[in-house]
Amino acid sequence: MRLDLSGKAVLITGAASGIGLACAQAFLAEGARVGVLDRVRPPSLPGEVVAARADVTDEGQVAAAVELVAESFGGLDVVVGCAGVSGPVGRPLAETSAADFAAVMSVNVLGQFLVAKHARPWLGDGSSIVFLASDSAFVCAPGMVPYCASKGAVVSLTRALSVEFAGVRVNCVCPSVVDTPMARGDLGDLLDEPGFPVQAAEEVAQQVVYLASARARTVNGQALLADFGVSARSGFPA
Ligand SMILES: NC(=O)c1ccc[n+]([C@@H]2O[C@H](COP(=O)([O-])OP(=O)(O)OC[C@H]3O[C@@H](n4cnc5c(N)ncnc54)[C@H](O)[C@@H]3O)[C@@H](O)[C@H]2O)c1
Repeated sequence: MRLDLSGKAVLITGAASGIGLACAQAFLAEGARVGVLDRVRPPSLPGEVVAARADVTDEGQVAAAVELVAESFGGLDVVVGCAGVSGPVGRPLAETSAADFAAVMSVNVLGQFLVAKHARPWLGDGSSIVFLASDSAFVCAPGMVPYCASKGAVVSLTRALSVEFAGVRVNCVCPSVVDTPMARGDLGDLLDEPGFPVQAAEEVAQQVVYLASARARTVNGQALLADFGVSARSGFPA
């Protein structure tokens, strides 16, 4: 499929690692120009790349980083919001503090809001935003209340912005477990168990690239749940 992303100006948050890094590589492979925004220094990438250091929870830093990338490229065609944290995993609610909850919501929800807010003036008709939500927006494991709540909010943020932003499509992808430093840190060797359904960051990046492209012109305000069909199964005993 021809995605026609050559020369497009793309801003990716969380691009120093995992899914964000795979997205940066996928857009560069399509010939796009890529702004990599992260709170840490990203690895060097081949192609037309602008690096911008920012914490997505800090509005001043986000505004400056978005402006740096958008001015370098003369505007933006695509924004991909990957920056995220998992927060407490496997911790009962009684041991989850208000600060734990606020920290996860701040990066995963406020961060996406701030990037969209400051990118909007640079996005023209036909442009696109893709957020990383998660299957945790729809199905939940115990001990991950802040993360699940935050990803549900990202799905609603996606729908709200798709209505708010005329001419800019806004979608999100909702993968199940992806083999990245985040998942390795939380789940360790469980990722290597035979039969445990794990996907690669590159597979998620391909979904993001498609949704960002004009081939997905009619797709707006949607959440793409990619979980090997796990959530499709009912409790019916058959
Ligand atoms: N790995 C999974 O299993 C999985 C599954 C579904 C969704 N996701 C989502 O995908 C996204 C990427 O996750 P990943 O697995 O690649 O994680 P990762 O830890 O490998 O990468 C996350 C990146 O975000 C950056 N980041 C974190 N907080 C930031 C902040 N405040 N400001 C700027 N940058 C910040 C980190 O520096 C890092 O480069 C996240 O939103 C995550 O919730 C991950």
